[in-house]
Amino acid sequence: MSIQTIIESIKSVNTIDLFILIFATCISTYIFNFYYKYYTRPNPLPGPFPLPFFGNSHNCGPDVKEFYEQCQQKYGDICEVMLDRRYIILSRPNYIKKLFSPAQFYMRLPNSQGTVELGMCNHGLFFNETYKSWNYNKQFFAEALSAKFIEASIININQIYEEMSGYWQSLGKQNASKKNNNNNWTLETDFSAWFHGFINDVTSILATGKRTYSITSYYNTLSINKSELPDALVEDGNNFVKALVKFLESLLFFSFYSPFTRHYVPIFKSKSNSYLSNRDYLYNKLDNIVKKRRTEIKEMPETRMKKDMLTSLITAETVVEGEKFKPMTDVEIRMNLLDIFLGGSDTTANLFCFITYYLCKHPNVKEKMLSEIDSISKSFGKPYLSCDDLRKLKYCEAIIKEASRLMAPVPFTFRHTTSECEIAGYKWPAGTDFHINFAGAHGHPECWDNPKIFDPDKFCNNDNDNDNDRSAWMPFGGGKRICPGKNLATIELLLLMSSVYKNYNVELVNEHEPLKVNTQLIANCTELKVRISPRT
Ligand code: HEM
Ligand SMILES: *[C@@H]1O[C@H](CO)[C@@H](O)[C@H](O)[C@H]1NC(C)=O
Ligand SMILES: *[C@@H]1O[C@H](CO)[C@@H](O)[C@H](O)[C@H]1NC(C)=O
Ligand SMILES: *[C@@H]1O[C@H](CO)[C@@H](O)[C@H](O)[C@H]1NC(C)=O
Ligand SMILES: *[C@@H]1O[C@H](CO)[C@@H](O)[C@H](O)[C@H]1NC(C)=O
Ligand SMILES: *[C@@H]1O[C@H](CO)[C@@H](O)[C@H](O)[C@H]1NC(C)=O
Repeated sequence: MSIQTIIESIKSVNTIDLFILIFATCISTYIFNFYYKYYTRPNPLPGPFPLPFFGNSHNCGPDVKEFYEQCQQKYGDICEVMLDRRYIILSRPNYIKKLFSPAQFYMRLPNSQGTVELGMCNHGLFFNETYKSWNYNKQFFAEALSAKFIEASIININQIYEEMSGYWQSLGKQNASKKNNNNNWTLETDFSAWFHGFINDVTSILATGKRTYSITSYYNTLSINKSELPDALVEDGNNFVKALVKFLESLLFFSFYSPFTRHYVPIFKSKSNSYLSNRDYLYNKLDNIVKKRRTEIKEMPETRMKKDMLTSLITAETVVEGEKFKPMTDVEIRMNLLDIFLGGSDTTANLFCFITYYLCKHPNVKEKMLSEIDSISKSFGKPYLSCDDLRKLKYCEAIIKEASRLMAPVPFTFRHTTSECEIAGYKWPAGTDFHINFAGAHGHPECWDNPKIFDPDKFCNNDNDNDNDRSAWMPFGGGKRICPGKNLATIELLLLMSSVYKNYNVELVNEHEPLKVNTQLIANCTELKVRISPRT
């Protein structure tokens, strides 16, 4: 066939046919490329079969944790899935340990166009992927979250607890019949809503010195008696919290939908715009908080002593590896604050809900915990326990560990390699993405006796008949990028357990109902109905 005849035959097709022809060629080239890459990938592993354009996103149902569990069951402790790119899922502690080695700095996720558009990539800690600038932020974080800071924050946490406890009593009394004596009431209420609000209020006051009034706002929705705080203040805090939840949602949206979809497909475009204006609202709010505090510090230098992270971020002068750094700019401070809000609120709140659920399901554990709490509070005879007192609650700490083993508040983390390395017996090129499946490590039969059973003794006994491998417990991640809020979260939880359970009887309203959890980036307890009454 001569060139002449080819040109003739192209001439004879009309433009629509030509368009279809080009389109079909592009698609088949894409599909061919997709499967060529798939079949020539290094270290092929078992995993669900990917489709062009979708990868395995159609295999992943609404609950991310379930998907990982299914993958581990079907394909083993190392397998792979294709989402926006190839991910290797690790579910066995031995495979993970190397990625958590403290000597190595790994990237978590390479920046994607979506997270850059959202303005999330280039600042803060969680998404900061250059060692030097990450280390800069990390030093500020370490200073803002020092042991001294945590000790001082106990007063704030107790105050907010007392306020919440007051709301419960008010609601309980509203429900009790008039002729009842004052301390005989029961209240059915949703712990999930209370503790999401509570931890949010606490995080906000620790981070910025300002309240969000989330518990006040929740009280007002339930009570005939309204709080005396001005409505506008409560409303404002409420909007801020809503914006935070929406921002977390938008992170997933911007990570997993392609720029094309977000920019040109109408429904996605309007959703994307609404996320962007939410972001602007949130950033603006945080910027104003930062500006106000800067002015306060300038005008009244004694407020430098204020014990919140924001003041610390503003006034800290940090020397990192011999190099003295400039103080942080407002934008940098804003993004660090955002990391504290996103990392610190829902994680801790959900873990308290899981703890409550397991305690109600295991009365013998609850009994043992109460005797520990009672003995510590009696022997100190103070209204509040200090950090040192709280750290003596070893059984409570074991409960926190066991609950987070069975139900990790953050179900997985990522690592992205930047040089060739050997993991799980395979050599991997630079640029490989690993998903670390905490549930896999936390339930691995090689590491745990009765992995499916809730039993805090796994973390108690030091004798030899306890052959649980506690290094397989990793709900805060590991290595250089381990969660910097680990100690704060533990103290918050110990304080809550000792206060709530010392003062209230807590039982599940529906004892046979399973825990209501929805897992995306965080395992979220969506409702936990409990019946509480004063403990006498
Ligand atoms: C029960 C509560 C918490 C859990 C289960 C939790 C869990 C985690 C996990 C799994 C990671 C990823 C670690 C890794 O990739 O190795 C992480 C990172 C992080 N968390 Fe937490 N966290 C909790 C509380 C907090 C609190 C209270 C704060 C702040 C005040 C916080 C701030 C952060 C930040 C900033 C990072 C990023 C660290 C980095 O990239 O270097 N978290 N957390
Ligand atoms: C990390 O954070 C610093 C300071 O906030 C910022 O200047 C830098 O651009 C960030 N780097 C990356 C890669 O995110
Ligand atoms: C309702 O509020 C009033 C005054 O604000 C207070 O005296 C009363 O005790 C409250 N009732 C309950 C049940 O908390
Ligand atoms: C508490 O109230 C319930 C009814 O709501 C009643 O049956 C019970 O006897 C009361 N207990 C005390 C100690 O007053
Ligand atoms: C009100 O109190 C009664 C018992 O005094 C209890 O059975 C009921 O669950 C409570 N209702 C609510 C909504 O708390
Ligand atoms: C988690 O569940 C609570 C319901 O208690 C809800 O208010 C909140 O928006 C949820 N958070 C996320 C991140 O989905």
